[in-house]
Amino acid sequence: MHTSTSLTSIVDPVISLVPRAELRDTLRHAFSTEHAAVGSIEEFFGMLPSASWSRNLLCTFAGSWKATHLKMLGIYGLSCRLQRAAQDADGLDRSNLYLAAARNAATSYEDLGLDFDGHTHAELYDDLAEALTGGDLWTLRKYRLPEAHQFSRWCYRNMVVEPISDGLVTNMFSEIYNHGEYTIALPAADSYFQQHTRLSSEERRKAITYIAAHVEDDTEADHFLVVVEALDRYLAASGTQLDAARASAIFRAYLRNLAPVMRRLTEMMRAEIAGGTAKPLAATGVHA
Ligand SMILES: [Fe+2]
Ligand SMILES: [Fe+2]
Repeated sequence: MHTSTSLTSIVDPVISLVPRAELRDTLRHAFSTEHAAVGSIEEFFGMLPSASWSRNLLCTFAGSWKATHLKMLGIYGLSCRLQRAAQDADGLDRSNLYLAAARNAATSYEDLGLDFDGHTHAELYDDLAEALTGGDLWTLRKYRLPEAHQFSRWCYRNMVVEPISDGLVTNMFSEIYNHGEYTIALPAADSYFQQHTRLSSEERRKAITYIAAHVEDDTEADHFLVVVEALDRYLAASGTQLDAARASAIFRAYLRNLAPVMRRLTEMMRAEIAGGTAKPLAATGVHA
């Protein structure tokens, strides 16, 4: 199965909602310039449902994909930094910095399960990974690809160590990227479960809830727009303009740093097909 909609065509209408033309252009330019990285990501999800993969591959996917998401700690760290800056400011700047902290923090409400009876996204991810791998082996560090670990560290450093504007730009890009990625991941994962496991439709629904929760109600698209506002307020409070070249470098680095994770996973799928260990459309239940 190949995903019929491109990631770029999914993010584009949401990027259109950004009020400032320079930021819109910078975002679009990043996706179009890094088309090879975007293509690698699309290729992985296009190939995912095509065969039944080994437990090792599924654990590697579950452990590595998680490292490219669930950045709640970084979001919290970035809001703490904005609050600290607000404490040292006065008047309108102070209020803009507090509001920037609040808007940035709003990207973690769903992750925390605020309106979902305390069910966190980490919990939903566990459900997905367990259904995919048949257990919790995937949580072992050995299943986290070095590229995924590096990507996660890069995001976290941007949000808690590098200048605050870099942190906001990173969080913003992560939200728009995730909107696109989760939208193509949802049919791919559903199709995998349908074709290669014996999960009932109810179990399948539970398994993909982690992905569906980010796509339904435009969760990630809304997160993206609140970080756009957080950045505007931060720039106003700090009396600075958007550094488009710097933002562009971060947007492009995000895609370039993430693509190797998906390429490694695709290579593993190719190797299983070539080695005859992958079972195309085997429908033999949870992997033994
Ligand atoms: Fe989430
Ligand atoms: Fe989000």
